[in-house]
Amino acid sequence: MKDVLDKLDTRRANARLGGGMRRIEAQHARGKLTARERIELLLDKGSFEEFDMFVEHRSTEFGADKTKIPGDGVVTGWGTVNGRTVFVFAKDFTVFGGSLSETHAQKINKIQDMAVKARAPIIGLYDAGGARIQEGVAALAGYSYVFRRNVLASGVIPQISVIMGPCAGGDVYSPALTDFIFMVKDTSYMFVTGPDVVKTVTNEVVTAEELGGASVHATRSSIADGAYDNDVETLLQMRRLIDFLPSNNTDGVPEWPSFDDIERIEPSLDTLVPENPNKPYDIKELILKVIDEGDFFEISETFARNIVTGFGRIAGRTVGFVANQPMVLAGVLDGDASRKAARFVRFCDAFNIPIVTFVDVPGFLPGTAQEYGGLIKHGAKLLFAYSQCTVPLVTVITRKAYGGAFDVMASKEIGADINYAWPTAQIAVMGAKGAVEIIFRADIGDADKIAARTREYESRFLSPFIAAERGYIDDVIMPHSTRKRLARALGMLRDKHVEIPAKKHDNLPL
Ligand code: HXC
Repeated sequence: MKDVLDKLDTRRANARLGGGMRRIEAQHARGKLTARERIELLLDKGSFEEFDMFVEHRSTEFGADKTKIPGDGVVTGWGTVNGRTVFVFAKDFTVFGGSLSETHAQKINKIQDMAVKARAPIIGLYDAGGARIQEGVAALAGYSYVFRRNVLASGVIPQISVIMGPCAGGDVYSPALTDFIFMVKDTSYMFVTGPDVVKTVTNEVVTAEELGGASVHATRSSIADGAYDNDVETLLQMRRLIDFLPSNNTDGVPEWPSFDDIERIEPSLDTLVPENPNKPYDIKELILKVIDEGDFFEISETFARNIVTGFGRIAGRTVGFVANQPMVLAGVLDGDASRKAARFVRFCDAFNIPIVTFVDVPGFLPGTAQEYGGLIKHGAKLLFAYSQCTVPLVTVITRKAYGGAFDVMASKEIGADINYAWPTAQIAVMGAKGAVEIIFRADIGDADKIAARTREYESRFLSPFIAAERGYIDDVIMPHSTRKRLARALGMLRDKHVEIPAKKHDNLPL
């Protein structure tokens, strides 16, 4: 009996070594942890249950049968994050560069299927060289099995991809099908074709970082939803994120104990909006002051910074926040901001996370660059996303809500449940200058008349009261009471239920 137990111990120890000490040291020398070290940090201590540790590939091409490493380049299993089940797979770069073989794909498929059955999130940690070259079409088919499962799981369980090393070829498309992608700065990159191929095909000389580093994907391409300094920081942030997310699309948001009084008054909010309507202020200050303990997990922080998206909690329950940011481009809606917010709104709606929208928007960004770039379709994405929401929607207009952007930013008319405005709100088709120059064009040469018309327009239209008089907003609230009012509204809407007409699926303006 002892022999059998020893044999198991030896086989396990051998499997845990992956590609061997030399490659583990090389991994460490590059500032990266190994697949197993990453899983240890991601999950609660001692909670990891590994599957398929002894799986080996079956390839015989190019001498592949002479090198078989147990686990075959991916560590898979499940564990807990603060007591809640999550499934995980981590590419092991020390084994064939983490490349995907037929059996490697089957290991991931098994985890994907179990995660859907158990209705728990799945997290993929990537550090890999794409399709296992020696396996040819078997590897390509393996990717397709992974992709299809990604799509079937979309909207059922949260899927998170964390890029922690190279990520090329097939390894970029599975992440792209998941809900969130996060990257590690300086040590990770993702691209469909690497710098060498780029040089051959287009003659363009570019480094891996310039082509697909975190600096590109978290700020320019919007492929990544965030980037962190190193492996440890990234994995700790993933634990934080999991705490905000529902396990699936039916369980509802997790509820954590909170010591932050929901009746808390925040007097400083009464002076957040400057007297001068053209002066910016930081909308994140409002978010941080209304949520529990100021704990905010921002999504896509460095992309389209004119809109802020992220998760916070009110009364211990997760809320998705969407807020125009007056500090960047005056909070205008452009194509990027519309896409960013639309994707976030759709995630929240899919997983029953209520959405609070803070509005201070001067409109859509004019100009050829925007129009040629498809602003109409991108703006429509956000309009579509909010209009199809069945989750509780609470909107607070803090200052400007001009033109089409008023409609788009979770107006009552497209489906929001509760719409509040601060006394500083200005709800109008456009700002005073533009409006007066159009409706009083004949007076343009007369400065006094124009000034008088402007004052008249401002006092009548640039306030929340016309909208309040007509019921387009439900109440004008004191800024200091915003947290309390939000908490009450969200509490009242907790069991909101609306039906949408039966259909196969919608046709989002892509
Ligand atoms: C088999 C691979 C491999 C692969 C790396 N290795 N990629 N083995 N198939 N795709 C092995 C190497 O032979 C090496 O083995 C070890 O992994 C580490 O690789 P290195 O090249 O030494 O490491 P590094 O210099 O850090 O470069 C990492 C890398 C590079 C950038 C990922 O290996 C690389 O470019 N690999 C190929 C990437 C690629 O083009 N993949 C196919 C994409 S096509 P030893 O034994 O020396 O440790 C694809 C199609 C799917 O994925 C499409 C679906 C839509």
